[in-house]
Amino acid sequence: MAGSAVMEHEARQHVLSALDSGAGIAWTGPDRAVFEERFEQHFPVLFGLFRDLYGARRDWLEQLSTLVTEAARSWAARPADLKALDAERESNSGWFQANSMLGGVCYVDRYAEDLAGVRARIPYFKELGLTYLHLMPLFLAPEPHSDGGYAVSSYRDVNPKLGTMQQLRDLAAELRANGISLVVDFIFNHTSDEHEWARKAAAGETEYSDYYWIYPDRTMPDAFEQNVREIFPDDHPGSFIRMPDGRWVWATFHTFQWDLNYSNPDVFRAMAGEMLFLANQGVDILRMDAVAFIWKQLGTPCENLPEAHKLLRAFNAVCRLAAPSLLFKSEAIVHPDEVARYIDPAECQLSYNPLQMALIWEALATREVALLSQALERRHNIPAGTSWVNYVRSHDDIGWTFADEDAAELGVNSFDHRRFLNSFYVNRFPGSFARGVPFQDNPRTRDCRISGTTASLCGLEDGSDDAVERILLAHSVAFSTGGVPLLYLGDEVGQLNDYQYTREAGHGADSRWVHRPHYPAAGYALRDDPGTPAGAVYAGLRRMISVRSATPELAGTRLLGFRTNTPGVLGYQRPGDGTLILVLANFGDGPQEVSPDTLSGFAPGAVDVLTGSTVRLDTGIVLQPRQFVWLRVESVRPHAG
Ligand code: GLC
Ligand code: GLC
Repeated sequence: MAGSAVMEHEARQHVLSALDSGAGIAWTGPDRAVFEERFEQHFPVLFGLFRDLYGARRDWLEQLSTLVTEAARSWAARPADLKALDAERESNSGWFQANSMLGGVCYVDRYAEDLAGVRARIPYFKELGLTYLHLMPLFLAPEPHSDGGYAVSSYRDVNPKLGTMQQLRDLAAELRANGISLVVDFIFNHTSDEHEWARKAAAGETEYSDYYWIYPDRTMPDAFEQNVREIFPDDHPGSFIRMPDGRWVWATFHTFQWDLNYSNPDVFRAMAGEMLFLANQGVDILRMDAVAFIWKQLGTPCENLPEAHKLLRAFNAVCRLAAPSLLFKSEAIVHPDEVARYIDPAECQLSYNPLQMALIWEALATREVALLSQALERRHNIPAGTSWVNYVRSHDDIGWTFADEDAAELGVNSFDHRRFLNSFYVNRFPGSFARGVPFQDNPRTRDCRISGTTASLCGLEDGSDDAVERILLAHSVAFSTGGVPLLYLGDEVGQLNDYQYTREAGHGADSRWVHRPHYPAAGYALRDDPGTPAGAVYAGLRRMISVRSATPELAGTRLLGFRTNTPGVLGYQRPGDGTLILVLANFGDGPQEVSPDTLSGFAPGAVDVLTGSTVRLDTGIVLQPRQFVWLRVESVRPHAG
């Protein structure tokens, strides 16, 4: 212990003197003093993490010192408006937990052609009420195969088809002036095989071969693959692919996405540099792509390892030094226990909520809410200073990531249930309303996931009113459980599956493109006509958005369960200051009653904030099929549930 304190002291001195001498940093105003203050606060953490991750290497202190110097240089170069934003967010660190938050996500090219097109849609984003815009990967990438941009060839170049880095900076500033935060991906688990580092590795340069997991023959790949799950089995079996020179390289996702080797501190430093570069362009939130996979260790599944958390904490500490307002959003589509482990103010402040997403679809299929209700009671509350990002669907497939052990408690056999859900959503189950498409159907493991737009999965291809109600019901959960609701843009006007994807270069083999249609101009044109499905969906969502931002109880994430004693009706409470919002949502196909007895813990009168109408609780409530209410009640005593 004492030895380590001495070492930390020495490292600190080393870094501070490096800042004085050769670093050549052009300090202005209070920048240096501010940096040193943050350094005092965060260095101990970074030191500890670096020692744990890289302490076995002789050069680890040197590496750490270089890293901090690079962070200092990045801070000194950070534009003044972003430094002002850092200061503002420091005094309002919970800004992303506000009930006015609303996220939207889109592909730049498909939704708006290019960055100029995105800029032109800002008035619409304001009409909708967006405060958070996730632009899908927009960096230089191989053609035509880039996994929708998730294979990055340069983190410092915008894909020329979409625009320039200057345009991205200008867009970030303009969005910010309009109250919209910019979210982009930090695709840090892998690069494309066309990235400069990958090209050099392929050419046999040792320094860059060490950036990836490259082996001369099958010995190590075979050993790793004993324990590693296949992520994209349609693309290639196992985790390694053969390089042109006969060596083998780790590629978790597609053959052209090569996993970076974070056991090499050069890789950490290089990627920290790319991260800070993005931060200084004006990005507010980085979506940390594929976090579960970033650390590998022989003899393990190479997912969710403790070192993955340490790496995220180390990246986070670097941000606190050099771009303190930047936040991380975790993309971990894994077991719910593991999802939760990434959520921490010192790790990822935001996280997708894949469990809630999957269980919304589960409840729509079964017309029962037991699993969703259990998840809300048990797995919804997360640490102070963090938030969920709740969504009905994303650009990716729907995977049934609920915990087998949770399901077993409710008497549900997970294997059979997942098979039922898959057949339901690809419309192979009699009576199914859904029009989904299978993704990565693996006959060997019988694993499968689902592609489809919200509207197609809800049955809108038949134009039915029930489908519109299902779309709204699904969103009502994401909009009221707590956290940032995230819309896949175009879903708010009921966009349907795009079956043309099979003819698009590079897309045909990946069914996720079925739910990534082009800008649905016809739907948007009808959005003010509530007589059309597009207009009905839009009106319903707009109502939820404006009510949510006027309902302080819906801020933050805190939630209390509520048992409705009715299998088809979901219930939960969002406690506020002296009042609470009691949500009731009927997933059943018939009217369902929540009895006076069940509601007897509340004051007799309530107001449905969605409609403004008064509701009596002491006589019980009958909900029509797919109806939901957000009831404001005096919190006499929060119902134990
Ligand atoms: C993430 C993305 C997904 C992509 C994968 C590989 O999971 O969401 O679209 O295929 O990472 O980058
Ligand atoms: C991406 C893929 C999804 C996979 C996940 C693993 O989200 O699209 O299919 O399960 O990565 O993190």
